[in-house]
This record gives sequence, C-alpha cells and structure tokens, in this order.
Amino acid sequence: MVAPICPSVGTSVVLTIDREGIPNEIGLPPVDVKCEVLRVELPPAEWEAGGFAVQIGINGDRCYLKPNVMIEPLVDGWYAWAHLIPPATAARNLTERHLKIMESYIETPESHQAAVKNPTLLGGPFMDLGENRVDEVRELRERTLRERSHLVRLSGALERLDTLLRQKATGYSLEALYTEVPEELQGYVELVYDLNNHPSFRLIEPLLYKSPYYDESLQSVMLSEIRQDDRPFVLSTPRIDSNGSVQVEMPFASEQLDKLFRLKNEPLTISEIRHALGLNDVQAERFGAFLTTEKPRPYSKYEGEGARWRYFGHACILLETPGVTVLTDPVLSYTYESDISRYTYEDLPEVIDYAVITHNHQDHILFETLLQLRHRIRNIVVPRNGGGALQDPSLRLLLRQCGFKNVIELAEMEEIPFDRGSITAVPFLGEHGDLNVLTKSAYLLRVNDHTLMFAADSCNISPKLYEHVHKQIGDVEALFIGMECDGAPVSWIYGPLLTQRLERPKDLSRRLAGSNYDRALALVDQFHCKEVYVYAMGQEPWLNHVMSIKYTDKSNPIIHSDRLIETCRTRGIKAERLFGEKEILLRCESHDPGTSTNQYCADDGICAA
Ligand SMILES: [Fe+2]
Ligand SMILES: [Fe+2]
Repeated sequence: MVAPICPSVGTSVVLTIDREGIPNEIGLPPVDVKCEVLRVELPPAEWEAGGFAVQIGINGDRCYLKPNVMIEPLVDGWYAWAHLIPPATAARNLTERHLKIMESYIETPESHQAAVKNPTLLGGPFMDLGENRVDEVRELRERTLRERSHLVRLSGALERLDTLLRQKATGYSLEALYTEVPEELQGYVELVYDLNNHPSFRLIEPLLYKSPYYDESLQSVMLSEIRQDDRPFVLSTPRIDSNGSVQVEMPFASEQLDKLFRLKNEPLTISEIRHALGLNDVQAERFGAFLTTEKPRPYSKYEGEGARWRYFGHACILLETPGVTVLTDPVLSYTYESDISRYTYEDLPEVIDYAVITHNHQDHILFETLLQLRHRIRNIVVPRNGGGALQDPSLRLLLRQCGFKNVIELAEMEEIPFDRGSITAVPFLGEHGDLNVLTKSAYLLRVNDHTLMFAADSCNISPKLYEHVHKQIGDVEALFIGMECDGAPVSWIYGPLLTQRLERPKDLSRRLAGSNYDRALALVDQFHCKEVYVYAMGQEPWLNHVMSIKYTDKSNPIIHSDRLIETCRTRGIKAERLFGEKEILLRCESHDPGTSTNQYCADDGICAA
C-alpha cells in the first residue's frame, strides 16, 4: 500500500477494495477488509509517500503462538544452560569455553566444519554454524570482550585465588591471606581447609547475584520455527541471528516471558501481543510469522481414580493423579512432523504441582523448557546444596534469579507430603567425576498405593547405601534408572572450572557415568522392584542439542541395559528401555481391592469408586 502517512505496525486498518478492475467481479460493489499493519517502509522525504504491508483477515482475531515456535534463552548470544547463569561458573565458561572456541573458529573455520561432520567428535568443542560465519563470530568475540570485561577479570581472579591457596595455604591460619584475595573476589569468598588441611574457598553466592557480575541485560530469547530434530550442540555453538529468527532482549525473570508462553493457550490480538512483549516495528513484523489463529490441540486430562504416567523422552515423566501432577526433569519436544511419535508441550496439563529436578546437568535442567512452563509450575523441587563450591552452584538461588518463585530445596531423605502421596529425596551418588557436588537427588514418588523411584543418573557405586535407604522407604514398585554407563570425562562439563589442567588419564578415569548392568541390577534386587524402566539415555533426537550421544548396538549403555532387561524378564520383572513416548495407567487399589497394589493396568486403569 502506498500512502502519504503510513500507520504504524500493529495498527488495525480497513481497506476498501474496488472490484471494478478485477475480472469476473466487474459491477460488484466494493468490499471492506479488516487488516493488521505488518510492515512500514519509509522512502526518502522527497517521495512524499511511504509504503506499508498488511495482513488481511487476522485483524482483531486472537492469535496463538504456533506449537513449533522454538524459544531459546541466551546469555551473551550463547544458549543458556545452568552454568551460564551463576556469575562464577559463567565467568569461567566465558573465558575457558566460549572465547577459546570462538578464537579457534576464527582461525580455522574449515576444521570446525569438518569436525562437526565427524560422528566420533560429537559434543566436542567445534562450532556447528553450517557455513563460514567468521565475521559474525569475530564480532561476537569482540562484543564479549568489550561488554564482559568484568567477567573476564572475575575468571582470572578465580584462577589466581586457586594459585594463592596452592602456594600459601600450608596448614597455618588462613586469616593473613584475605588481604591477598584478588580484588574482584574481595568480600565474596571465605577461605577454608578441610580436616586434612587441603585449602579451598566458598563463594557467597547470594551477594554475587547482587553484584555487577550478574547482568540481566545480557539475557535474551531467540524465537524461530523448528521443523525437525536436528539442532547444533549448544555448549560449543553460539546462537547467531539467522533469517526468520527474532531475538528479544529480555531478562529471564521478566513476566513478559510468561505472557509470551501463555500465548500457546491463551490467544491475544497482534496489537496486544506487541504491547505485551514490547516489540519494535521490525520484531513485530517478523513475529507475525510465529502466530496462528488455529486453536491448539486440546489436552486430554487424566480422568481416572488411579494414576497415569507418561514418558516425554529422556528423564522427563509426567505423573498425574486426580489430585496432583508431577513432572520430572522437564525436557520437551516442540510439535512438528516426525517419524518418532512423542508427547510435546501440547500434552501438558494447565498446572504442574511439582516439577522435580534430579541434578544440575544440562539434560536434566533445561531452561528452554523450564521458562516456558514457569507460569504453569506451582512448585519446583531441587536438591539442597548452598555450600558455595564453584562446581556446585545453588539451584534454588539460580531459579529464583530466573523468576521461579516457589523453589523447594529438599535434603536427602526429606519428604514433601501431599494428598494420598509424597515426594522423598533419595541419595544419588557418583556421575559427577568425583567432584564434591551436593546438587543431586533421586526421588521416590508415592501416589495412592504405588511407589515409583526416579533414580536418573544415580551410579550405584556403594550398594550398602541402598540397604540403608531400603530400611527407611521399603520396596519400590517401579524403578526408573539411567544407564549411560560410559559417561563423558569430568572435563566435558567441569573443565572450564578447573584452574589446573587435569592429566588425560585422570580425566578419563573420572567419568560422568550412570549405573552399569551390575549396579542397576543391585538396585532392582535391593528394592524388590516389580517393574524396571531404563530411561535418561539421551536417545531421543530432540535432545541432540544438549546431549550429542549416538549409540550403536555395540555401545556399552545399550549392551548393559539390554542385559538388565533380559535378566529382569527372566525373573518375571516387567522391564523395558523407554524411547520416544510411553503411557502407563495405574490402578487405584482402594477402589479396586481385588487387584494387587503392584499391578499396573494393561488397559484404561479407570476404576469406579
Ligand atoms: Fe547427569
Ligand atoms: Fe543425564
């Protein structure tokens, strides 16, 4: 449309179309069409007119966010996983991971392009940007160095503090060393020994979040449409703007994010959306592509008297009873065409009473999913820590910082009771390269007459532990156990936090490995399980961006889990390795006393009261 005065993007206009010039419509009266302005272009002043584009028919209509709109939270242009939010771990990852990868890419982009095609290098420090984007990466690197210089200094200070302790903390009082703590860390650390005179420090994390080291202005979300599972591995590839994507600067704690995600089920007009999200003209124009007037698929609520659990992939399981909904380790796929059937965001209830997080690895606490569910989550349950160790940031602080209001920390063996059930935190050993990390917990869920244990990546390295636990909690009807028993070396996630290089043989000996056949079977035996589900294997392709695992029949996790399933079945224990999706209905024993409490329904699981 050409006009001397152009309306702004989002304005409602009515166009009168004169049909005299349209073949077959000559003689018919003009029609009025309601429209929404999508784009405005203003040419040089001497033209005395501008142009604007409109979308017909959507004006006034309330729109939903399309179910395949991917929303990636970013920090500094990098995908926000849990170590990029606490200032100290973010600083170390910035200098020891991001800057190093960017420098390497700028120097030899072709070697990165070759490495990402090599399956043996999956998950390695190589950028997967598709084509040569050296200029953009160089610009990102320069911007990072310019805008994040204080974090670069914080990272250096952490390294110098480690050196100071190694050199001068020799068993004598540490008091004299406080004046030598690097300036950037003054007032943010306490120096300590363990009982064997090994020196260390703890961070005063709440104050670091209040310091200039935590800068919400570098947080943003990138929206784009996703149509298939393949995504670059996010720990080594920055998210650079591409055609069709919209990046909106917005702190993760912003309530505008909830408004955005509510759009999946609660429609608004384009003008309302623009106002709610504070979009500028260009963003508003591009945002139009993410909207639809089509209603989302209705959610099929569980209507039985017992319970239903559904496997959403990896360690994400939704358990619903008439009174409570629990979601474990939320990691969800968007909705798009695929050969692999799956539950997606559209298969979640309006309210999730408890989202429970087993541990702080990026495949178990995924901000991309959690932020989208924040407005639906009543309580989020995390393992208790708060010890201030660099490698073990507090999830409670981190989530609160990101706008989650009801974060419940659960210490080992503590319980949250609810109507006809409870959640109990069960100790989780290993899988963290022998680092002192407290933020890890398995969970026992009691619902109605059923007991389900979600052990995630617990590595049963000390079976005696579960003898003690068994005395407290008794038998477990269904065990969910991860068996990624090879595991990456400790440096894969924690490398940037180490200020001294770990020799390769030591690194390889300290794995992020879950239970193998013997260890998993010992758990099954200890708790007299009637059902065993191997899960959290990273096999669903929609997790590739955080996992980068591709198994073959010869991979240990497959060999060991196949053996476990076979052994269980020969003993009459129901067992399978979960993949894609699964639904199980549990009978309500109190309404159906003729059935064993441990018996799962094969069919509808609904029993009449
Ligand atoms: Fe893990
Ligand atoms: Fe895992």
